[in-house]
Amino acid sequence: MSKIAVIGTGYVGLTSGACLAHLGHEVVCADIDEPKIALLAKGVVPIHEQGLARLVTQGLAAKRLNFVANTAAASATAEFVFLCVPTPLGADGAQDLSALQTAAAEVGRNVCRGAVVVNKSTVPVGSTRLVEQALGRSDLAVVSNPEFLREGTAVSDFLKPARIVIGSDDRSAARRVAQLYEGVAAPIICTDPATAETAKYAANAFLATKVSFINTIAAVCEAVGADVDDVVLALGYDPRIGSEYLEPGPGWGGSCFPKDTQALVQMAADAGYDYSLLRGVLAANEEQFSTVVSKAASLVSLPGATVALLGLAFKSGTDDTRNSPSLAIAARLLAQGASLRAYDPVVTGVDSPDIIIAGDPYAACEGADLVILATEWDEFKSLDIGKLATVMAARNVVDARNILDHKTLLRYGFAYQGIGRS
Ligand code: UGA
Repeated sequence: MSKIAVIGTGYVGLTSGACLAHLGHEVVCADIDEPKIALLAKGVVPIHEQGLARLVTQGLAAKRLNFVANTAAASATAEFVFLCVPTPLGADGAQDLSALQTAAAEVGRNVCRGAVVVNKSTVPVGSTRLVEQALGRSDLAVVSNPEFLREGTAVSDFLKPARIVIGSDDRSAARRVAQLYEGVAAPIICTDPATAETAKYAANAFLATKVSFINTIAAVCEAVGADVDDVVLALGYDPRIGSEYLEPGPGWGGSCFPKDTQALVQMAADAGYDYSLLRGVLAANEEQFSTVVSKAASLVSLPGATVALLGLAFKSGTDDTRNSPSLAIAARLLAQGASLRAYDPVVTGVDSPDIIIAGDPYAACEGADLVILATEWDEFKSLDIGKLATVMAARNVVDARNILDHKTLLRYGFAYQGIGRS
């Protein structure tokens, strides 16, 4: 079993640290956010992520998982250092790597001779070199090991991954990183760093394209009078296509798809390739937010209307609202003069003072002229439609996730719009 430091305790770092401890390694997680580290050291996990709190508690109890607010101390005795820091988009559309460089420089000043530095942060192709430079040490090997963790299912994605990608020019370091995953049954692809980094962007770009593809097919379905749910069934049974990431919706969001697709377009442009296909996907996604608002506008006059928004998280299973389609739709509704009331089972606050948060779905819908279902929480699948009908001022619904029973809605006299349903 190895001594591992994990720098950064966001979704990726915390999940990786807790799972590596679960696999038997001795892990120290570091973060510059001292209050967060104090909470984690007490076993309090500040994010909504299935199974993570249990692994953190178990790791702490077994003394295989520790938390410190100090990168230097965490890396001092580590054989492996995982870099899991944020790489947000900068104002110029390129990724801001300053947190990664600062962390790598600190690790370089402190880590033992011969340690392996593993980069899990999503970085532009070629950044492994940048990490090497920031470390400033010729005795350290750098390995790219991109993450493919979905928020909400990050723990199971880590422990039962579809594949593990390891990119390094140092074969022995790559082998040592592969050994850390002993006990995890998955194909391991060992390649060079640039290929590993590209594979990460390609995966997210492909999945985003798949979702946008089905959203545009939904638009075609509406235009020609077809039903997208059955089209999805027909596509999904084809093993060349597969059924995942074919759920039509309000557009994709989150902290990864938008950032990574934009970054890939930018990276390709910098390298002289105009990625028009992916630019089209990004444009289609923006259009999807507006499509939901147009559906709302076809049911009620938005200026002065009260709209209830069900769901704020960018998808179910998480409390993350970063680049949430729900908030993109909310901004467009507000710009058109609507008043907003929202409810989400786990998101209890948002930055906008114009979005009033209600304590339950019926309170959000009280007196509303229209309800928009934006996030596919299970709780919304069993909404009492009769109760909705009585509390609302007018019976209008846009189901942007196609999870409500439209026949029941129609029976109660709702005017209904789904996505791609004839
Ligand atoms: C995504 C990838 O799925 C992970 O593999 C990757 O590691 C992660 O980004 C990352 O780069 O860190 P995540 O951001 O958690 O994970 O979100 P997804 O579950 O992939 O969903 C992305 C968006 O697509 C959401 O807005 C979701 O609602 C939407 N979506 C997904 C659909 O509208 N329809 C679908 O059928 C699937």
